[in-house]
Amino acid sequence: MKTRNLFTLSFFLILSVALLAFTNDTEIKESNVTKSEWKNLKVLPQDISNDSLKSLMRGYNDALGVKCSHCHITIEGTDKLDFADDSKKEKEIARKMILMTRKINADNFNWENHPNPELINVVNCTMCHRGHTKATKMIN
Ligand code: HEC
Ligand code: HEC
Repeated sequence: MKTRNLFTLSFFLILSVALLAFTNDTEIKESNVTKSEWKNLKVLPQDISNDSLKSLMRGYNDALGVKCSHCHITIEGTDKLDFADDSKKEKEIARKMILMTRKINADNFNWENHPNPELINVVNCTMCHRGHTKATKMIN
């Protein structure tokens, strides 16, 4: 009976040490990823998750009726895009548009004293662009 108890005790001890090591390990890995993943974010949060960034970018595609290559340059001789590169003017304009949209929301739609007005999302790209690059063309 005594040895059995000792056995059970050491079993759970080993198990919890193993679990602890496992948890620590994944925590370290996750924080490394969020810190080093993005190379050239100037307006979006540095620690934005992969999922959030991708769904934002897909949203831009839909809002403007374009593909990723409308804003991101193709690496010569490949069909791959260099997402961190800034040479396309559309990417630079898009940064201005992100800031403008943020300001429209923070200045005009902060009706409930939002703790972080930058996150208000009433006006968005689609509201003006409606699936086209030229937002003004829609008036005609
Ligand atoms: C309307 C323009 C536009 C479109 C379309 C667009 N992007 Fe972006 N993308 C940007 C801008 C602007 C940034 C930089 C944001 C910043 O400076 O904070 C960016 C940044 C990124 C980054 C981060 C690069 C880095 O490491 O700094 C990735 C990855 C990315 N885009 C992927 C995509 C993918 C995938 C698509 C298509 C599904 C896409 N983008 C479509 C404008 C666009
Ligand atoms: C308040 C209206 C409005 C909002 C909101 C808005 N845009 Fe625009 N955007 C315009 C107008 C107007 C132009 C000028 C082009 C035209 O219509 O002739 C433009 C131009 C652009 C262009 C350059 C045109 C091109 O050929 O690619 C990009 C890129 C762009 N917008 C991206 C965005 C993105 C991304 C968002 C959301 C973060 C956004 N815009 C939100 C009104 C808007």
